[in-house]
Amino acid sequence: MNIGVLTGGGDCPGLNAAIRAVVRRAIEKNHHLTGIKNGWQGLISLDSEPLDLHLVSGILPTGGTFLGTSRTNPDKIPGGYEKILKNIENAHLDALVAIGGDDTLSVALTLFEKGVPVVGVPKTMDNDVYGTDFCIGFYSAVSIVTDALDKLHSTASSHHRVMVLEVMGREAGWVALLGGLGGGADWIVIPEVPSTMDNIVKHLDERRKLGKDFSIIVVAEGAVISDIKADTAGFGEDSFGHQRLDKRGIGDVVSREIEKKTGFETRVTVLGYLQRGGSPVVFDRILATRLGVEAVDQLSQGKYGVMTALQGNRILTLSLKEVVSKSPRSVDPQLYELAKVFF
Ligand code: F6P
Repeated sequence: MNIGVLTGGGDCPGLNAAIRAVVRRAIEKNHHLTGIKNGWQGLISLDSEPLDLHLVSGILPTGGTFLGTSRTNPDKIPGGYEKILKNIENAHLDALVAIGGDDTLSVALTLFEKGVPVVGVPKTMDNDVYGTDFCIGFYSAVSIVTDALDKLHSTASSHHRVMVLEVMGREAGWVALLGGLGGGADWIVIPEVPSTMDNIVKHLDERRKLGKDFSIIVVAEGAVISDIKADTAGFGEDSFGHQRLDKRGIGDVVSREIEKKTGFETRVTVLGYLQRGGSPVVFDRILATRLGVEAVDQLSQGKYGVMTALQGNRILTLSLKEVVSKSPRSVDPQLYELAKVFF
């Protein structure tokens, strides 16, 4: 087969490891590989290149995606899907491997329903794709959050300050929760558990009374804090309708409210795109390798319309239809209860 491989949506460490796994396994099974540039855009206006062993040599530890990515949504382009189907034919592609989050995978499902043999691979630092315990890029983001918290501890304790760390994750709290757990945060605010400034202030006052003269709070960019105003009004949406949550400035709003209500010196750090940069941690390298190889194996067995997934320590597949209909996936409430042991 001539297999097309693409990466869509937000970039993250581990994407190149996944591409490398797809190429290595496919060539081992005597398939041909075509790299589709910049996500679905590379099939809207055909932009591709043949992939070989040489091109993927040495990319395992590198960040980002050498194919490029985009948030292109064919639904928002006149004749978008027709253009893709025509270019799949023009490029003589027999099947696709789509590496991405729920937006990219929703396009993969639509193409499968239009007759395109496609297998999805779950990727997003948000970790909110249903059906897989982890997505490529998640633990690399968690390790960056944890490292940031380690660094913030020294300055918070030196200045006896409250430090607020705003992290990404969209409407899910996975990155905030596990990053906060790993970095010993004193409070974690996630979208799944609505909070109030009063709760936060009360907790900080109690800590201070216990003699804790500094605190570190992790706030997810999508967190719901009822008694403060933090909206994205006027900053538009991406092609899949997602608002720019970084424009809420929720970390800054929380930081100012804390200082006003407690009198404690407070500072904010917005981690932003650092959470998607750098080399993949080993967990993501191995996850990307296992999921990418499995995707080629599924295609080789004539299995399409599925996504490869990690459940426990097993790699399996589930239907794209189920994945797309049940994503995004919220954090497990038990994990939040675990984190509260340390608040
Ligand atoms: O989906 C990954 C992610 O980093 C989210 O956590 C974040 O809200 C969004 O992408 C930012 O989107 P963009 O990269 O288009 O600014």
